[in-house]
Amino acid sequence: MITPILLCGGSGTRLWPLSRASFPKQFAAILGEESLFQASARRFRGMGFADPLVVTGDPFRFIVAEQLEACGIRPQGILIEPEGRNTAPAAAAAALAVMEANPEGLMLIVPSDHAVADPAAFREAVTRGRAAAEAGRIVTFGIRPTRPETGFGWLEEGAEGEEGEGGVRRLARFVEKPDAARAAEMLAGGRHLWNAGVFLARAATFVEAFREHAPAILEGARAALTGARRDLGFLRLDPAAWAAIPEDSIDYAVMEKARNVSVVRFEGQWSDLGSWEAVWQEAGPDAQGNVRHGPVTCMDCENTLLRSESPDIEVVGIGLKNVVAVAMRDAVMVADLSQAQNVRKAVATLKARG
Ligand code: GDD
Ligand code: MG
Repeated sequence: MITPILLCGGSGTRLWPLSRASFPKQFAAILGEESLFQASARRFRGMGFADPLVVTGDPFRFIVAEQLEACGIRPQGILIEPEGRNTAPAAAAAALAVMEANPEGLMLIVPSDHAVADPAAFREAVTRGRAAAEAGRIVTFGIRPTRPETGFGWLEEGAEGEEGEGGVRRLARFVEKPDAARAAEMLAGGRHLWNAGVFLARAATFVEAFREHAPAILEGARAALTGARRDLGFLRLDPAAWAAIPEDSIDYAVMEKARNVSVVRFEGQWSDLGSWEAVWQEAGPDAQGNVRHGPVTCMDCENTLLRSESPDIEVVGIGLKNVVAVAMRDAVMVADLSQAQNVRKAVATLKARG
């Protein structure tokens, strides 16, 4: 069985005002009825998958429990981090927990901030990586790149057919968050894929990779797990041990350094919904390019995303072009669609103002 490890922390500001520090974007129903977190949890259900293990921050524990219950998922555990230390400590703690239950067990690290149009196709890609993972590889999932994105990791595939069946290839190199020049070069070269942020391996393989490349993180996670205490249905990692762990992402701490990495291509539609423009695209604009959500009316509009998060707030757009407008009870954001990623700058200004 593969244990999905749902990573659920961090607080993006790029989808403000929907995404807040106390209610990050993965808990919001951005596309459709369910949240990105629920969709991620539901993506890896069924044959071959065990109940998930969630790693999340203290402020989110009840949202996580409620949202899982609402979609009928019983997690095998919810690990609570006293504070966010990025994804490497979270993954290390999960690997140790899975290994304790079953040293040969496979685990799948699953971010909770992505939209995947065809979940069955992604499950199938994971299944293709299974044999390699059982043989001791860390399997990554590669998305065909469409822009020189500096916010992702990039995967350089090894020679064709090196690992034979199922289109699994050895990874020649993992490049996390390159600068703009390098990203442009990789896009033009055509030999790189985007890293989807999903990783499949035996728990013991992850533990070994941490031991080799990030021993302080592994030992810190072990201490935090040893000192953990149960609280209702949650397992609280030891705060003092957790605070002492170096903060790092699994991509920098392990993936860039590990040599036993493979890659499976995922050809389906994948998006990290990193901006309102990406949400507009993924939501499937109508023939005039408009996307509406909630009590919204638009007249003579073109390429707009108009969204009201409250049944009491009517949003009306007239003669708009390339505009995003998001109305919440306590905030309204209006921007040019192509500049919507600057919302993070606006949030920084608001924060500084206090
Ligand atoms: N539990 C926990 N604790 N989860 C965390 C923490 C933490 O401290 N920090 C981040 N996460 C969760 C996020 O909620 C998200 O679901 C996932 O881990 C990935 O973290 P991000 O912070 O969103 O990473 P990223 O987007 O910068 O980069 C990663 O994802 C890209 C694809 O979207 C990397 O793996 C890149 O290589 C990859 O391309
Ligand atoms: Mg992300």
